[in-house]
Amino acid sequence: MNNPKNIKESVKEKYGQIAKGKIGVIPSITSCCSSDSCCVGSDSTVIDMSSRYDKADMTAIPDGADLGLGCGTPTVYAELKEGMIILDLGSGAGIDCFVASKYVGKTGRVIGVDMTEEMITKANENKKKINAMNVEFRLGEIENLPVDNNTIDRVISNCVINLVPDKKIAFSEIYRVLKPSGKFTVSDIVVDGVISENERKDAALWAGCISGAISRQEYLDIISITGFRDTIISSEKKYDYKLKSGGGLYSITVSGTK
Ligand SMILES: C[S@@+](CC[C@H](N)C(=O)[O-])C[C@H]1O[C@@H](n2cnc3c(N)ncnc32)[C@H](O)[C@@H]1O
Repeated sequence: MNNPKNIKESVKEKYGQIAKGKIGVIPSITSCCSSDSCCVGSDSTVIDMSSRYDKADMTAIPDGADLGLGCGTPTVYAELKEGMIILDLGSGAGIDCFVASKYVGKTGRVIGVDMTEEMITKANENKKKINAMNVEFRLGEIENLPVDNNTIDRVISNCVINLVPDKKIAFSEIYRVLKPSGKFTVSDIVVDGVISENERKDAALWAGCISGAISRQEYLDIISITGFRDTIISSEKKYDYKLKSGGGLYSITVSGTK
């Protein structure tokens, strides 16, 4: 399970099942998602990582786009403006793309990228419901983004980079596609303890946004080594979940500038 290819296949399979609304593959994930929560432990401990948007932003989200899979509200801190080009990594059913589309307006554009075909299908169905002309979904991997160099004003992402086996590649891809002075804002899971080998090997814990998480310091180091400046953590939440080592689990929303 430690092999990056296996991890990604397993993540893809689980999120494909979630997109299709199938129950039973990971019953604990399905049941917690249906109650607006995201990630769970393999012992079926439910951790409510769901994000909350304000009323005005909620009006931009069509039915079926909020699968309860996020762990923050990156659009709140991303300084989105009319006319900007936004890229959402691991866009799922499109929730943050639709919120972003409201801010960038007709003169802007939002691109959502996700590696799970079923999520792209679901996101496109949701797009049709509200005729979101400035939103486009692309099937692709964060490690090899289907996006040209230096073309994006803002990269956003919600509870996804923890699922990517190589976070250095993820952040170097973010750097590559951002315009000079462009900014990323991601909400993600970090830990303040050690994830044991057994936890790392647990496929349900990976898909549940736990086993792939790294420490906050490691996360910030990768951002800094990639070349980003002005890194800031704008929001933080501690979950009621203990790793086997006793360490804790947090969601943070972090921004940096190219
Ligand atoms: C926890 S869900 C979050 C979805 C969405 N951001 C939200 O808040 O509802 C993670 C999403 O990231 C996608 N994903 C995971 N790893 C990825 C990768 N390496 N490249 C592209 N998409 C990925 C999954 O397919 C899934 O749709």
